[in-house]
Amino acid sequence: MEVFHLRNKAFPDPVQIIRNILELRAMTNEWRRENLSIGFVPTMGNLHAGHLQLVEESRVRADRTVVSIFVNPMQFGETEDFDGYPKTTDEDCAALTEKEVDVVFMPEVEEIYPGGLQQTTRIEVTSLSDIVEGSFRPGHFQGVATVVAKLLNMVQPDVALFGEKDFQQLLVIRQMVQDLNMPVQIIGIPTVREPDGLAMSSRNGYLTDEERKLAPEIYRTLQNVQGQLNQGGRDFQILEQQAEKDLNKKGFKTDYLMIRRAEDLLYPTADDHKLVILVASWLGKARLIDNLPINLSD
Ligand code: PAJ
Repeated sequence: MEVFHLRNKAFPDPVQIIRNILELRAMTNEWRRENLSIGFVPTMGNLHAGHLQLVEESRVRADRTVVSIFVNPMQFGETEDFDGYPKTTDEDCAALTEKEVDVVFMPEVEEIYPGGLQQTTRIEVTSLSDIVEGSFRPGHFQGVATVVAKLLNMVQPDVALFGEKDFQQLLVIRQMVQDLNMPVQIIGIPTVREPDGLAMSSRNGYLTDEERKLAPEIYRTLQNVQGQLNQGGRDFQILEQQAEKDLNKKGFKTDYLMIRRAEDLLYPTADDHKLVILVASWLGKARLIDNLPINLSD
């Protein structure tokens, strides 16, 4: 019995891969008939420890876990990295097998957008889609909201898990679920970082060795701003400008570094306590994003 158990653990059955919606529905309907709860982790693949943290949390919170791997063309701008986005399907499935995920949903683009991208219904989370990250990536959050809504309708999970790493994305999804009365609980998971502080990201693979050494400066800059806020600094604009200048002096090309209200990403007043510092900065070919939520005590 023990030996069987050990063997079973060392060589778990490969995770089940499903590529079409009908088959996925059949599987999840079966689970619901058995009264099993369903957790869902949407991803674009090239999985790292950040993604796997969401998977672990889903395994804790639900009886069955579905992970989707779908590089969603609708959320990429024309000049962005859709074609070159890293694909490591075999390694991803091996990692998900090890985590004992129940199903990997890996559809082709035609399965998700059978009528093409142009004609399909789109979802716009009006209050959040054009500010901060959205002002640098027009259409991006519309693409995210649309695909996540579709995936949630396909899987119909009880809980869905998203990383705080993509802070604005998490707010967009929470707002969409609230506004459209979608029956799913959205869980946010804190950012998983490399030992030197760099937030884990599939796009870190674009960095050269030299850039990789410099990359943790992003997190250090966020921590530095946090320190100044904690010491009572309230001239948000000056803090933002100084931090952006420091980062650029080190070799980054910063799109934005902003201090915003964590709740809605609007400009904070001196009375706001829950803030977030958000940054997007280029290092060579990689556009890195990161953020640091902060709770001011007074
Ligand atoms: P992707 O970048 O693959 O990320 C999938 C999920 O993993 C997202 O919820 C993201 O916030 C989370 N994640 C990424 N890096 C993380 C880290 N270092 N720590 C914690 N969580 C992390 O985000 C997307 O895909 C797509 O936009 C998607 C939601 C799948 C829609 O296409």
